[in-house]
Amino acid sequence: MTTERLAVVSGAGTGIGRAIAARLAADGHRVVILGRRAAVLEQARDTIERTTGPGRIIPLPADLTDPEAVGSAAARIAELGPVDVLVNNAGAIVTPPADDTLAALAHSWRQDLDGNLLTAVLLTTALQNHLRRPGSRLVVISSAAAQRGGAGPHSAGSYAAAKAALHGWAFGLARQLGSDGITVNVLAPGYIEDTEIFGDGWTESFHAQKVADTLVGRAGTPTDVAEAVAYLASPAAGYLTGQVIGLNGGAVLGR
Ligand SMILES: NC(=O)c1ccc[n+]([C@@H]2O[C@H](COP(=O)([O-])OP(=O)(O)OC[C@H]3O[C@@H](n4cnc5c(N)ncnc54)[C@H](OP(=O)(O)O)[C@@H]3O)[C@@H](O)[C@H]2O)c1
Repeated sequence: MTTERLAVVSGAGTGIGRAIAARLAADGHRVVILGRRAAVLEQARDTIERTTGPGRIIPLPADLTDPEAVGSAAARIAELGPVDVLVNNAGAIVTPPADDTLAALAHSWRQDLDGNLLTAVLLTTALQNHLRRPGSRLVVISSAAAQRGGAGPHSAGSYAAAKAALHGWAFGLARQLGSDGITVNVLAPGYIEDTEIFGDGWTESFHAQKVADTLVGRAGTPTDVAEAVAYLASPAAGYLTGQVIGLNGGAVLGR
């Protein structure tokens, strides 16, 4: 049955976010997709709507590290109705410090914290009064790096730290919003192929190492993540909140 549930997915022009948006749209949601590049969002909309039909995807360009841009985006989203599903997926791996000065280190860490932590905090806070009560589902995309350190060839430690910070923040949010009938969960993917996040750092040997780390002998796909989000976002998942769920082919066990 088609419903008019409203979903918001950040970083949904590419990779994991685009797959999540496609899955939620296929489930009958109208989906607001956020990212900085308008052309990339429009392309994602056109691709997804080839399957779902028109009117499912609403592109909204915004830099989610910018409080003003987030405020404007949230005001536009509020006009569309209460938010049933919010997936904080936007994130990036920042290039390590340019040199060994403390100034370069501080710059790099601030970029990672802005891009991976503040993006989620600002968007969620801006939308907090527009969540459906009861019933909203909040999903935060973290990373296995938060559980074991590192983030591939460019790791400077700040990516793992920024993702781990999402966990403590999400636990507090789950406590705060539970009595409103809102759930908050963290999904921590391991290595997922076919995304833009590794940029030039992606190599065949990096890929092979990541696959070798798993118990199932393959890389994860954006669809693997989208399937898990579809459940966490569903009305059926109302008793599941305040959890960190690993989705990593067994590369990280039981955390
Ligand atoms: N791929 C993996 O192996 C893996 C593993 C664990 C966790 N993750 C996490 O999964 C999420 C999605 O990553 P991905 O692998 O699908 O990489 P991706 O293809 O690079 O997707 C990241 C998306 O976030 C958007 N974004 C980045 N900074 C933004 C900002 N300041 N404001 C708005 N949008 C922003 C980007 O679009 P614009 O550049 O147009 O803004 C991009 O579409 C990230 O949080 C990542 O940390 C990925």
